[in-house]
Amino acid sequence: MVPLKRRKVTTVQTAVQDNSTCTFSDVAIFILERKMGASRKSFLTRLGRSKGFLIEDSYSSIITHVVSENNSGDEVQLWLEKQNNGEVLSESVHLLDISWLTESMTSGSPVPVQDRHRLKTTPKPLSVTPLIVIKSYACQRRTPLKHHNAFLTDALEVLAQSAEFTENEGRSVAFRRSASVLKALPYVVRGMEDLKDLPCLGKHSLKVIKEILEDGTSREVESTKRSEQFQAMKALTGVFGVGVKTADRWFREGIHSPSDLIRTNQKLNQAQLAGLQYYDDLNRPVTKNEAMAVSHLVEKAVTAVRPGAVITLMGGFRRGKEVGHDVDFLITHPEEGTEEGLLPKVVNWLKDQGLLLYQKTNNNSYLERKDGPARPPSNMDRFERCFSIFKLEQSTVCSSTLLNAQTPNTDTKESIDGTGHQQSGLSWRAVRVDLVVSPYSQFAFATLGWTGSKLFERELRRWAGQEKGMSLSSHALYDAKQQQYLRANTEEEIFAYLGLDYIPPSERNA
Ligand code: UTP
Ligand code: MN
Repeated sequence: MVPLKRRKVTTVQTAVQDNSTCTFSDVAIFILERKMGASRKSFLTRLGRSKGFLIEDSYSSIITHVVSENNSGDEVQLWLEKQNNGEVLSESVHLLDISWLTESMTSGSPVPVQDRHRLKTTPKPLSVTPLIVIKSYACQRRTPLKHHNAFLTDALEVLAQSAEFTENEGRSVAFRRSASVLKALPYVVRGMEDLKDLPCLGKHSLKVIKEILEDGTSREVESTKRSEQFQAMKALTGVFGVGVKTADRWFREGIHSPSDLIRTNQKLNQAQLAGLQYYDDLNRPVTKNEAMAVSHLVEKAVTAVRPGAVITLMGGFRRGKEVGHDVDFLITHPEEGTEEGLLPKVVNWLKDQGLLLYQKTNNNSYLERKDGPARPPSNMDRFERCFSIFKLEQSTVCSSTLLNAQTPNTDTKESIDGTGHQQSGLSWRAVRVDLVVSPYSQFAFATLGWTGSKLFERELRRWAGQEKGMSLSSHALYDAKQQQYLRANTEEEIFAYLGLDYIPPSERNA
């Protein structure tokens, strides 16, 4: 038998020989052995891994941070390009001095990259730098889900959200547009010169970006995140059924958190009561496997009441997101008219199976005669629609989720109202689900309108109006010059009417 002490040592070594304890998987580090030596590299690798850093033994395309000691930027670049069969190094890799890694290890997590960490490289002659033209409307650009500038876009989006909390829409859209431009860039922004000729970057956004590039953080962003109002508004609007106006009124009355709502016995509507009751679950991201499990339930319900109906997953999951705040479905039927009144039946079926914790269904109120060209396209569409909360049994979720998901909340977390299922250790969770029904003839418009992202949709409508004299909604496209509706069976046809290159859902993450 191996003595206890030795066994322990073995475990520790296994843990640090690979990346099994890695907690910061967004940052993949490669330590350059050149001028450092093998033993120091292996010491730093073990130390870093024991602190949860992902440190790869060899250089590959997944590396985001290259760390070296006593090398110039050009030396590192040359070495890496040699390893890569002469391929020019991706713009998205940070070339850093060892000080970045030691500071990160001291602070316990990857610190923001600052100028002083960066190794200086001689700029390549212009002829080899491909000319990148970034168009000004988000619907003219391809925006992938994973991009290179989250350290900037996260900050800008905090300011956008804060502006939404004070109902300053113009300011919020300005920050969202700036962030969206940075998401479309095929390289990491390292200095202000990388932003030359880019559209949509206003003074305020540029100031924030500059501060982050120089100091690693923006004071305005940090103080916004810390502010009592921002935190309270975030917590309160996190209750399903609570909008900015209500949250703001509560904040002024001294209510700062969902538990304050219970304590002060606030009058709540049915949606808000459900929002409060399932607060913890509804603020926990829905995984793709959970979305698939919900899909199966919706599919079963819809085909039970209307065979031949078509159910499509919309929203973030259609764009390839791994997690979402809800699951969105669009339902239609090839025989126009047979989709009418479908939702109440679906809802009853789901209720009978005990699958609904909450639901509110609205009728379809769209009439082309009344709502079409005369009205500006509103972003609230008027389809038959059900806002619901599903009760999702973990046993119906594909097993890989069970392994990956945070363990069901059995002990550590208290449900906000003290009566939730968390404490009883039951194996289900609440999931927000939106069901929308569209007539077959509007299906392409509804699909485009419900795929998102929200900024992409907003920009599509702005493009249609300002550049094409057309009016786009989730129901129809109206050409004001020709004074007629343009019919479409596919999203591709709508992009073509709008004079835009087709952008697939996975690149609409504006
Ligand atoms: P979501 O709010 O569900 O966003 O709206 P999302 O992109 O799926 O991201 P998650 O859920 O936060 O992960 C989905 C799409 O539906 C449209 C929105 O514009 C967005 O494109 N939508 C939403 C409407 O058209 N009308 C609405 O009333 C709500
Ligand atoms: Mn969604």
